[in-house]
Amino acid sequence: MADTLAALPGPRHPDPADALPLRWGVLGPGAIAAGFTDALHRHTRQRVVAAGSRSAERARAFAAAHGVERSYGSYEALVADPEVEVVYVATPHSEHLAHALLAIAAGKHVLIEKPMAVTADQSRRIVEAARAAGVFAMEAMWTRYLPQTDIVRQLLADGALGEVRLVTADFGGRSRYDPASRLWHPALAGGALLDLGVYLVSWSSFAIGPPAGIVATGTLAPTGVDDQVALVLSSAHGAQALLSTTLLASTPSLATISGSAGRIETDSPFWGPSGLRVFDSDGTLLSHWRDPYGRPHRDGMAYEAAALARYVAEGRSESPLHPLAEAVDTLATIDEARRQVGATRVE
Ligand SMILES: NC(=O)c1ccc[n+]([C@@H]2O[C@H](COP(=O)([O-])OP(=O)(O)OC[C@H]3O[C@@H](n4cnc5c(N)ncnc54)[C@H](OP(=O)(O)O)[C@@H]3O)[C@@H](O)[C@H]2O)c1
Repeated sequence: MADTLAALPGPRHPDPADALPLRWGVLGPGAIAAGFTDALHRHTRQRVVAAGSRSAERARAFAAAHGVERSYGSYEALVADPEVEVVYVATPHSEHLAHALLAIAAGKHVLIEKPMAVTADQSRRIVEAARAAGVFAMEAMWTRYLPQTDIVRQLLADGALGEVRLVTADFGGRSRYDPASRLWHPALAGGALLDLGVYLVSWSSFAIGPPAGIVATGTLAPTGVDDQVALVLSSAHGAQALLSTTLLASTPSLATISGSAGRIETDSPFWGPSGLRVFDSDGTLLSHWRDPYGRPHRDGMAYEAAALARYVAEGRSESPLHPLAEAVDTLATIDEARRQVGATRVE
């Protein structure tokens, strides 16, 4: 086991420019859409050819700022563009269901920002619609497609950590309280769990599978959304995940996976390009891998876009690295955690 840990496998698909190009449409030209479009244009052959906004002026400004050919003053017009092959849904959580269904009904493949929807029920509706329409659908859980995650994936698949017993992860970002903003407004499906906690639950699922037990405790903002939550997830095999998220403080964004034969500790942030350290069961550091690829921060979204393009070229309907059923299960866990902390729900 230690030998397997000492000789780390390399990441597969480290170059996102290897994927055949697709023509993308951006639906909701906000903060993440800007980072996504720039990442694609810098690091891949993918091309954002159209942007759609509720405002023609905002769509025009986004297109001009990010090298996008066409702009539309409605989402309906965007998804009707016959050149667009795949729609990136980058609106607030509360809108993902309607906007994903709009794009799917127009026959487009969809990449839907995290979380895929507000609840497991909503996400199932998206899955059913995509299957019925025969289009590709994927949650933009970009961590799954990073080079470092692929190293962890291979170590887990090889059983290099032995029996995995404990997973930890945190993600907190200090956010100024603004009751009208998407992070704090219940009608926009704000709250720490949906915005940041989704990364933690997904990381736990990646490492130990879906939880058999869920315990959550937390606090609520004056708007009723959860602003800080600690979660314990237990697998059917007795492994545990200790997860914490908050909108009230910036936390290290570290993740670990510990097993009987050794452990992995990520660098920060675990959810974006960084690195990882591997230890044997005595706690001896065996290796420290640092991401050498020069696509830091949000440029790491290039990997998920390239993965989607490869899957579409292969004729797949969903991601083998992050199946739709797993994204639905993650939302079911978040549903239950929100219920336990008493977060206000508007669906
Ligand atoms: N992958 C990541 O690292 C990452 C990071 C941040 C956020 N995200 C995700 O990306 C999504 C968008 O987040 P963001 O930070 O980009 O949000 P944002 O800056 O507020 O942008 C969201 C866009 O959605 C559109 N929109 C449609 N309906 C809206 C409504 N009812 N209220 C407000 N805006 C509405 C707006 O564009 P128009 O009005 O112009 O159409 C707005 O520009 C969320 O799912 C979030 O969790 C992902």
